[in-house]
Amino acid sequence: MGREYPLSTEEVLHTRRVASYVADEIAASGGWIGFERYMEIVLYAPDLGYYSAGARKLGPGGDFTTAPEISSLFGACVAQQCADVLRDLGDGSIMEIGAGSGALAADILSRLEALARLPKRYLILDVSADLRDRQHRTLRERVPHLLPLVQWLTRPPTQSFDGVILANEVLDALPVSRIRWNCTHCEELGVAIQHDRFVWAPRPANEPTAAACAALAAAGGGWEDGYVTEYCPRLKAWSSELIRALNSGVALWFDYGLPRSQYYFPERRDGTLMCHFRHRAHDDPFLHPGLQDITAWVDFTALAEACRPAGCELAGFTTQAYFLAGLGIDREMQDLAGRDANRYARLANQARRLMLPGEMGERFKAMAWSRKIEVPLRGFALQDLRHTL
Ligand SMILES: C[S@@+](CC[C@H](N)C(=O)[O-])C[C@H]1O[C@@H](n2cnc3c(N)ncnc32)[C@H](O)[C@@H]1O
Repeated sequence: MGREYPLSTEEVLHTRRVASYVADEIAASGGWIGFERYMEIVLYAPDLGYYSAGARKLGPGGDFTTAPEISSLFGACVAQQCADVLRDLGDGSIMEIGAGSGALAADILSRLEALARLPKRYLILDVSADLRDRQHRTLRERVPHLLPLVQWLTRPPTQSFDGVILANEVLDALPVSRIRWNCTHCEELGVAIQHDRFVWAPRPANEPTAAACAALAAAGGGWEDGYVTEYCPRLKAWSSELIRALNSGVALWFDYGLPRSQYYFPERRDGTLMCHFRHRAHDDPFLHPGLQDITAWVDFTALAEACRPAGCELAGFTTQAYFLAGLGIDREMQDLAGRDANRYARLANQARRLMLPGEMGERFKAMAWSRKIEVPLRGFALQDLRHTL
């Protein structure tokens, strides 16, 4: 990987700074830190982490792509779902968590304008200052007249919220712990330094981690010695804080992931940790710290357990393909293409990437939680996977 893509001088200096920050913390902690902490530093440490510093991240010239970067069809369909909810509420806002380049916000706002269903406000909550600037630029270029509706937040709202909360590919970026199962005990895989390099370093898991590990092993159907996987200890606090803010409306989560019993299948013995550097996916989180994205699949059962106590109703769980089909992606394609046959062909190609099982159609799921709304959610009408959670 490293040899294929030479780094600029600036990148070399940056990744050295990040590595030295991590090394100092490992030294101060007696030679070992948990992987969750490593991931938190390399993704989020102020001015250093992948999401906090200036890497380009999404789109061409970045490291990875997402559904809204592939096609405006994704946002057009999400907008249809938002329009139904906003109509039902009579009024309401949208809050997007982790808005990336701002492409989804621009697509949703332009489609809602055409449907005469603009939200009262479009709030964006994002940890990345540099992406917040990029979102502002995207919206100023694409929907300048709607910019006054948009407001950026740096922490979840403390007041109750009416409308639609949505997040695409944000949960997969939350730091995870990595664990290894040995028939009699569980180890936590942390990070240490050997010969000036970061390496995986096992330690006996503490009691809460060992208990979590045993429960996951049982849910998956039993693991063999050496089974490695991950889980996200902060998912519960993070998602329940957001969903508790929902007074009426819907929370929509989109991400790649599985229900717990499938996530922790005995056959998935190397976990789901994945890194992205310049559009190459690989499994080495110690490559170029601070310059690459690190993700893990989402345990949707854990997400359901986090959201349920907030008193919302699990209104739907389905694959991305069925979500988009339920919201009429075919009609949206015709609408976006008009009479332009070439544009239609391009959109059809994008729709295939969003929907085919071998592409994003099955790996990516949509989950909805609702409170005080009557309207059925069209995105979840064609397929109901709630029983799998
Ligand atoms: C993988 S990108 C997805 C971007 C966009 N939603 C899309 O689909 O193109 C993750 C986004 O979530 C943001 N993010 C990551 N962790 C976050 C957190 N804890 N709270 C809010 N935003 C977060 C990042 O800055 C980035 O904008």
